[in-house]
Amino acid sequence: MQQLANKRILLGITGGIAAYKAAELVRILKKADADVRVVMTVGAMEFITPLTLQALSGNPVHHELLDSAAEAGMGHIELARWADLILVTPASANFIARLTNGMGDDLLTTICLASEAPLALAPAMNQAMWRDPVTQANVGHLIDLKGSKLYIFGPAEGSQACGDIGPGRMLEPETIAGMAADLFETGLLSGRHVVITAGPTREAIDPVRYISNHSSGKMGYALAVAARDAGARVTLISGPVNLPAPDKVTVVPAVSAREMLDSSLAQLSDCDIFIASAAVADYRPLAPQGEKIKKSSETMELTLIKNPDIVSTVANHEQRPFTVGFAAETQDIDTYARQKLVSKNLDMIVANDVSRSDIGFNSDENAVTVFWSENQQSFDPRSKSSLAMDLIELIAHQFAAKQADKVVTQTQEKE
Ligand code: C5P
Repeated sequence: MQQLANKRILLGITGGIAAYKAAELVRILKKADADVRVVMTVGAMEFITPLTLQALSGNPVHHELLDSAAEAGMGHIELARWADLILVTPASANFIARLTNGMGDDLLTTICLASEAPLALAPAMNQAMWRDPVTQANVGHLIDLKGSKLYIFGPAEGSQACGDIGPGRMLEPETIAGMAADLFETGLLSGRHVVITAGPTREAIDPVRYISNHSSGKMGYALAVAARDAGARVTLISGPVNLPAPDKVTVVPAVSAREMLDSSLAQLSDCDIFIASAAVADYRPLAPQGEKIKKSSETMELTLIKNPDIVSTVANHEQRPFTVGFAAETQDIDTYARQKLVSKNLDMIVANDVSRSDIGFNSDENAVTVFWSENQQSFDPRSKSSLAMDLIELIAHQFAAKQADKVVTQTQEKE
């Protein structure tokens, strides 16, 4: 269930005897490294205590809609936005009826109304209640209304707590967790951790002045969104830019090249793919002044010292991830890009022609050629977001190919 790693699952529990199985489900989801937050209805708390679920999920359990203390922490709108998936287990007949009729009369229904995340319900109730035409009509209507955003898991048939036999049993927690994992299967980078550097760096001359460049960070931010949409957990190590933090991406701010290097190395223990799109300043002032430099003399000399090469340090590290660099060139693009691919020990390099003013640096468009081993692929000018999606797809495929090669090599070594 690798697909559940780092996924944010909002687990709704409603009132029914099957509520006790939710505890086991939380345990399985946590074991699969999902981030779980539990929301309970008043009815659910008759069957299982919030304390149990808090201990298992490692997060406070939410149940009050009109609780100012809870709203000040993580309120209903934040919870609705936070979730990658809302999973309601068990979903009672009453809950399904309230949801179908758009009622926001408790915390869980309100979150369901306010969220754009997919919603999965695992119904559990007495067989007659499940068969009742009103319940069946409610479920049918909900499916019509929600379309592809709604999933109904089960119910199973069998003997029930009340002694009846028939449909209405909640699916087993292991089955529900597996079905939830399948919902995240589509992403090419599911379960992967992608680290991206973006934007410029600033190298201090004194407390008010610095050396920097015109990088906007747009390409790196677009790559972060595309990697996230491909299912990856994304850490974006960003120099100072004027861009909003992308939703569901962890942004780590860095100002200087050395800060960016430290933040990059701190991610290597569990990084699968490292993409260096930052325009790192090649040099920094050797001795930045502690006080503002006074403009007394007509000329001023500044001694610069070379900055560490972040992508090269990462690519030569013992915990080396699949590493992708960028090359901004004005001439002989192919030759220089291929040289950097080798000298920096990269898996791939994305080269662009920065002599063209219509693409690159500050523009919204970009055209690039990607080089790796003996291959290359060119992408015509297009928006940075569309290019980012194509680049992430290509990177994901090359990453997968290298992983497959590693497995073959390891198997041959064993033989
Ligand atoms: O050597 P050059 O600056 O042309 O290489 C560009 C590539 O190297 C980019 O991927 C950039 O993010 C990375 N780089 C780096 N640290 C530096 C300089 C460049 O990570 N100090």
